[in-house]
Amino acid sequence: NDKVTVSTLKKFKKDGIKITALTAYDYPTAKILDETGIHFILVGDSLGMAVLGYESTIPVTMDDMVHHTKAVAKAAKNAFIVADMPFMTYNISKEDALKNAARLLAEGGAQAVKLEGGVEIAETVKAIVNAGIPVVGHIGLTPQSVNKLGGYKVQGKDDKTASKLKSDAKSLEDAGICALVLECVPIDLAREITESLSIPTIGIGAGPYCDGQILVLHDMLGLTQGHKPKFVKQYANIDKIIRESVNNYISDVQNSLFPTEEYSFASRKSDVK
Ligand code: KIV
Ligand code: NA
Repeated sequence: NDKVTVSTLKKFKKDGIKITALTAYDYPTAKILDETGIHFILVGDSLGMAVLGYESTIPVTMDDMVHHTKAVAKAAKNAFIVADMPFMTYNISKEDALKNAARLLAEGGAQAVKLEGGVEIAETVKAIVNAGIPVVGHIGLTPQSVNKLGGYKVQGKDDKTASKLKSDAKSLEDAGICALVLECVPIDLAREITESLSIPTIGIGAGPYCDGQILVLHDMLGLTQGHKPKFVKQYANIDKIIRESVNNYISDVQNSLFPTEEYSFASRKSDVK
């Protein structure tokens, strides 16, 4: 059994093994990812944009997350499964945060939850960890705060915001997180934060010095409709494959080229007479 756990993640950092992470939202893709040996699968609230057609992550609900986490968790034998806590499901009260975090493990089947924010949420993080639920942090560009940030842009470019991110990282580590996502921060800042922590950092748009990397699956496979950020390397063009396949199907059906006998059941004897 090669199940990745919080201990494995920490050991990977110590041994200098890069942690590989991607998002997934359904059974078939999660099964493929798991079988490739990927370490970490995030059921991200990027679900909203990647598969539900929303314009941001803000409308994603707990029910959405539980529903998709179930499918991913069923498929994943070895990867560490993390589920995002959606917008406002951990900010109202500690009690609320604990109940919602628990649902993602008990109903969804995740091994850990991820929350966006720094110092402000450290007490909540501590409460969730104390309840036995591993927490992954997420600082830098935190998409649930897009309206406050004024858009999807690089964070920590000046000394003041950089030092805020460093103290966020430290307070989250003290609160007991098992890993920290750094999104859209300059290379040198991500490096400094990574070197200052004993738990691994997972970067997205955060340069090569993080302990691991994550991308949104639909972005790296070329299935995302619309804007793709600068930090995305596209490894395939699935959009094109789907279009070509469906166009061929339409043409085959309209020209009576499908189904042929090969794809049909033989006539019944009684029909032949
Ligand atoms: O929701 C998501 O996909 C994420 C990753 C980009 C880290 O939070
Ligand atoms: Na997210």
